Amino acid sequence: MNLTGISSILIVISLLITCIKCEFSFMSMLSSGVDKVSNTIRNIQCNFGECCTSEYISPDIDKLDDILNKEFYGQEIAHRVIINALRGHLTSANPPKALSMSFHGPPGTGKTYTSQLIAKFFYKKGDQSNFYHFFNGRNDFPLQEKVNEYKEELYNIIINSLQKCERSMFVFDEVDKMPEGLLNVLVPFLDYNTWIKSWRFTSTSINTRKAIYIFLSNTGSSRIIQRLLTLWEEGKQRKTTKLQDFENLISVGAFNEKGGFYHSDTIDSSVIDHYVPFLPLEEVHVKKCLKKAFINRGVHPTNEMIEEGLSYVIFGPPPHNIYATTGCKRLEQKVAAIIYANKKHRIEL
Ligand SMILES: Nc1ncnc2c1ncn2[C@@H]1O[C@H](COP(=O)(O)OP(=O)(O)OP(=O)(O)O)[C@@H](O)[C@H]1O
Ligand SMILES: [Mg+2]
Repeated sequence: MNLTGISSILIVISLLITCIKCEFSFMSMLSSGVDKVSNTIRNIQCNFGECCTSEYISPDIDKLDDILNKEFYGQEIAHRVIINALRGHLTSANPPKALSMSFHGPPGTGKTYTSQLIAKFFYKKGDQSNFYHFFNGRNDFPLQEKVNEYKEELYNIIINSLQKCERSMFVFDEVDKMPEGLLNVLVPFLDYNTWIKSWRFTSTSINTRKAIYIFLSNTGSSRIIQRLLTLWEEGKQRKTTKLQDFENLISVGAFNEKGGFYHSDTIDSSVIDHYVPFLPLEEVHVKKCLKKAFINRGVHPTNEMIEEGLSYVIFGPPPHNIYATTGCKRLEQKVAAIIYANKKHRIEL
């Protein structure tokens, strides 16, 4: 090959190299442009909506603890278990499994109330957060014959939510009104070391371990009441009762009583971390609820007003009748009526 031939080959090679470089820089310009656009979209979403970042998810467990100390009456065991469970889960950057707690107790003892407080101190937007998901057994899953349809729906909702944010929270209220078997669909999300990778939903794996699941039900209530009564008859003070006095009896109750946990894999495979007892409330606690309800409406109640509120509350079971059968439920409405009646009476005088 002569000199002209060699130099033409060199020119072609150098042109090729320049082209490749040029393509590289074009591609990198394109990808940095795409990155910039997606960052801008994300920033806009974060400014006007909510992002799965520490700015929007900054659990303040100390503050929650403080509020529970002041405004959560007669539930020392539940208070302690919930705070310790949340602290334990959140201190690890990579927890071994999702946190799952099951709250059990009679009506009006604070199960829904505490789950709302948890959300309030977990997400900047509280229970309005897009990462907080609330399901009601009775309203959202009313029909036993549709259990398979609900299972698929619930599975999809959880996968989608975890894809958007690993620190999602799922609260299932009125579990005892859910179709049997529905909650079995949660087992893979609650189990140890699960990374879900499904070709159906996503090409990347989803870390299921940072999420929190809370189940609320009245299941086990009668056992809790009976055990507390027995302890009371033995002279044991309410404040000195322990989780161990109730935990096992609740899980057995939940497994054997009709409802969402009835003979459930969720319990059978031990994926629930904490069974939390909510004890029946006594007169002293109901009085505190009444006082708070008056103060929330800007009224400092007299003893007569508190007594009037108390007269609407039914206590049981016989013969001792020391527990309010519906706890602090619907007291706000009674308090509103008492305040109105008092105002009307003053005007008429
Ligand atoms: N232990 C408590 N301390 C302070 N307030 C309470 C307590 N329990 C209930 N309340 C008050 O009573 C209201 C009703 O309670 P809540 O809805 O949490 O009951 P629940 O346990 O979820 O009952 P249910 O089993 O019927 O759903 C709450 O909004 C709260 O104001
Ligand atoms: Mg409730």
